[in-house]
Amino acid sequence: MTGIEKFTSPIGVALDRFISAKQEEFTYATGELSQLLRDIALASKIINREINRAGLSGIEGSIGADNIQGERQQMLDVIADYRFTRALVRGGQTCGIVSEENAEIIDTKNHNAKYIITIDPLDGSSNIDVNVSVGTIFSIYRRKSPIGTPPTLEDVLQKGTEQVAAGYILYGSSTMLVFTTGFGVNGFTYEPSLGEYFLSHPDMTICEDGNIYSVNEGGYYSFPQGVQDYIDECKKKKMRARYIGSLVADFHRNLLKGGIYMYPSTKEYKNGKLRLLYECNSLAFIIEQAGGYASNGEKRILEIEPEEKHQRTPLYIGSKNMVKEVLNRVNVTSIA
Ligand code: AHG
Ligand code: MN
Ligand code: MN
Repeated sequence: MTGIEKFTSPIGVALDRFISAKQEEFTYATGELSQLLRDIALASKIINREINRAGLSGIEGSIGADNIQGERQQMLDVIADYRFTRALVRGGQTCGIVSEENAEIIDTKNHNAKYIITIDPLDGSSNIDVNVSVGTIFSIYRRKSPIGTPPTLEDVLQKGTEQVAAGYILYGSSTMLVFTTGFGVNGFTYEPSLGEYFLSHPDMTICEDGNIYSVNEGGYYSFPQGVQDYIDECKKKKMRARYIGSLVADFHRNLLKGGIYMYPSTKEYKNGKLRLLYECNSLAFIIEQAGGYASNGEKRILEIEPEEKHQRTPLYIGSKNMVKEVLNRVNVTSIA
């Protein structure tokens, strides 16, 4: 592109315009879900600002306490949780929030709202200190309890198949919002000088056969034998090993390039590390919408019946044939 064209070519479709244009893809089309996504986008812009200046504002590092998962809480975990909660409470479209950082359901007091949200406000937060990409992951469900009442456990313990929307924000070399409402997957890139997300990755799909495997190989000897065999096979085939340690970033790369992400059960932790309600279900909905697959090694992630808000599950997610391959080796129900 030369001369004047550089300045007159369109920037693209802004998130707001996309949402308005696709209103019928936002379940029940009454505008609440659209507003909820706008609230999430707004909170993400604030987090993006904090992350970008983390080194200068001194908000890297731990607060010196553990969260309900028994994991060290970073300052930015707390800030992100606060920002998203506030945006969702003020936004008025959710009656309850399940956050990684809170043991109990947060009652937003918006009892007339239809939606429930589950969220990992800051994923990969231990990477903040070393200036590596982090993210936010969320899922949206319709409440089961009657409108006008406080949120209940039944509202939040829904199977992944019940999601009406799911998405993530990747605070990376650029910041992106990727989401689905069950009509494919679309990715938006943040333009900081305009303060807007623009559609940059329409109709995202993942190839059936990828060439990247992502797993924390430090745990190799405590993985199930089938997973060890699969990793050996990847090496024999000289596949590319890539592991950032931020689920969102690893997932996003594999979605674009084709690959598999694995967080298996281990000898010590039979359910692995990742959380079903605000990590695995959200990404499983996205990957299936993009043509990939997600399993816990025994069944489709989206069909797991949740028993507990913060429950963990092993995760095998990504290109369909790669997930199929590892499932064959862990010797359980494979996919069609
Ligand atoms: P969180 O920062 O929300 O607690 O999530 C961390 C998760 C995930 O982002 C990442 O893929 C995984 O932990 C890495 O775990 P290991 O260090 O065990 O590989
Ligand atoms: Mn996480
Ligand atoms: Mn987190």
